[in-house]
Amino acid sequence: VKDLRDLARKHGIRIGSAVDVAALRAEADYRHVLNREFTHLTAENAMKWESVEPERGVYTWDDADAVVANARRNGQQVRGHTLIWHNQLPGWLTSGVEDGSIGPAELRKILREHVQTQVRRYKGKIRAWDVVNEAVDDDGNMRQTIWLQHLGPGYIADAFRWARAADPRAKLYLNDYNVEWNQGKIDRYLSIIQELQAQRVPIDGMGFQGHLGIQYDYPGDWANVMRRFAALGLEIAVTEMDVRMVLPVTPEKLATQAEYYSRALTDCLSVKACREFTVWGYTDRHSWVPGWFDGEGAACILDENLRPKPAYQALLATARR
Ligand code: G3I
Repeated sequence: VKDLRDLARKHGIRIGSAVDVAALRAEADYRHVLNREFTHLTAENAMKWESVEPERGVYTWDDADAVVANARRNGQQVRGHTLIWHNQLPGWLTSGVEDGSIGPAELRKILREHVQTQVRRYKGKIRAWDVVNEAVDDDGNMRQTIWLQHLGPGYIADAFRWARAADPRAKLYLNDYNVEWNQGKIDRYLSIIQELQAQRVPIDGMGFQGHLGIQYDYPGDWANVMRRFAALGLEIAVTEMDVRMVLPVTPEKLATQAEYYSRALTDCLSVKACREFTVWGYTDRHSWVPGWFDGEGAACILDENLRPKPAYQALLATARR
């Protein structure tokens, strides 16, 4: 096993990375390593609603298209991220809902058009869609979003049905963080999924984002949690793996980080239904972590200069076992 593509081949899984489109365009070394190492891509921001429809009815697909085109050229598959979320919504939508100029009936129509338009555009080119992202809060309740508040809980079933009709072959996922260990979230998702299945709603997979930090215990029960979802007949994917740390970087922290990545891959490989392992950015040069967690960073498997960190070597070593 000499690189991540090799790992993917040996174990019959997809190894993915989130893609920063600005870097993809501007940095040849970033592009080179991305395409050398990864078999699967997720647009980090480019397929989110605010990116694709910044003004009502005005679609800007260039960045999203760039990810799909890169994948096509390099034999990579694509995860579509994300159709429905409460963040990174376009301003016209949130302000319209807030000031009442967009009422519930119109909101539902807007959502349907959004799902249909985006899924149809990439029909046959997206292996799996994160249809609804982060629908549950950390207390295990349905997250209070404009979707829940104005459309009711049925928005999830609607969205999956619309997506299925628009591209019958794309795998349709729920996706969230902390489902690796948060009992409330786990139980809520299991019941949402069972309810969807009882209503014959087409749902294919559960995405575990996998945003971890070495200052917290590794979620030791993760493989069992994956199995509980797999037992419902779902595919499993690790969709946004990263392992942050409190800076400065030390050799000890890098070793712990390596162990977390290795355990996560081991957990995925131990569950037959887990066939995608995607990192949320592969280099510390482009990572969301420093911008979001004060004093934290270095969450990726390659450093700022695209040199492999112990975490990268640990993934290869895990794959050799
Ligand atoms: O587009 C503007 C750009 O014009 C401006 O120059 C720049 C200056 O800060 O900001 C740019 O927007 C930023 C955008 O990333 C693109 O870089 C936003 O401020 C920033 O908030 C946004 O952060 C993204 C975050 O989602 C927003 O919620 C992160 O890159 C992205 O990694 C992160 O990804 C999420 C997943 O979608 C869902 N799961 C959690 C994960 C991490 O938060």
